[in-house]
Amino acid sequence: QSPVMISNTAHFSLTNRYLPQAIIIGVRKCGTRALLEMLFLHPQIQKAAGEVHFFDRDENYEKGLEWYRRKMPYSSKGQLTIEKSPSYFVTPEVPERIRAMNASVKLLLIVREPVTRAISDYTQLRTHVATASTAITVEGSPRPPQSSRSFEELVIRADGSINESYRPIAISLYHNYMHRWLEVFSREQILVVNGDQLIEDPVPQLRKIENFLGIEPKIGRHNFYFNHTKGFYCLRNETSEKCLRESKGRRHPRVSPIVVTKLRKFFSIHNQRFFELINEDLNWPE
Ligand code: A3P
Repeated sequence: QSPVMISNTAHFSLTNRYLPQAIIIGVRKCGTRALLEMLFLHPQIQKAAGEVHFFDRDENYEKGLEWYRRKMPYSSKGQLTIEKSPSYFVTPEVPERIRAMNASVKLLLIVREPVTRAISDYTQLRTHVATASTAITVEGSPRPPQSSRSFEELVIRADGSINESYRPIAISLYHNYMHRWLEVFSREQILVVNGDQLIEDPVPQLRKIENFLGIEPKIGRHNFYFNHTKGFYCLRNETSEKCLRESKGRRHPRVSPIVVTKLRKFFSIHNQRFFELINEDLNWPE
């Protein structure tokens, strides 16, 4: 499909694909999809379909910026193009690669309270493993597959210490990744979005983002309605209504309150380091 040819005559609106001016860099399971879909309610936003994974996968990055640009949606003058690939946040090469594309790009980082994020991540991994293991039956397997291991078993080692190398825990140690971004970008270029508040009350978070992106405040209460069955806000505009897919807003397994308390204590110092880096306190429970 070739882009609509552009004329410089004023009454033809510009329609072409542009490299993103803003990127949602992560964190996975913090509401990256919800954030992108909510921003797309804005008439000045166009979003890339799916996750592009240009900067974090060498095989894509090697294809070059023109390949990346072609993955972007058509947009007209005055619109911003946004893509989201949550693994950008944790991949070491990404900040420098994004800077090389556009040193003044705007970055959106959505975070959640780290223990909730870890449980959400565990829930997703368990769903994926369960789906895969129904395809390949492991009849007579002497060890239970990872999918049936509880969160508590995976997170707490036999000696009672926290398994920091378990991926859902490691990714919640935000400061370990954030410092790399701040070595490459100024703090003003990165907006930290509160993912827990985006669930509770999306409009104030979106207002902050509109302001950060320099677009008119257009997304309002009229764009949301609470769906009691789903337990989350769903989106609407003049013509349609939609909730996010079932994989967004999963039911989490019950986790022992003792383990939750232990984890909150463990994360406390790490959260402080993150807050110092971003110069903002998100008041997560300790
Ligand atoms: P859970 O499914 O664990 O509840 P991501 O898109 O980055 O994978 O994030 C998924 C998370 O987005 C979900 O995690 C859910 O809590 C959160 N979320 C935020 N707003 C939502 C909404 N309006 N509908 C559904 N999920 C939403």
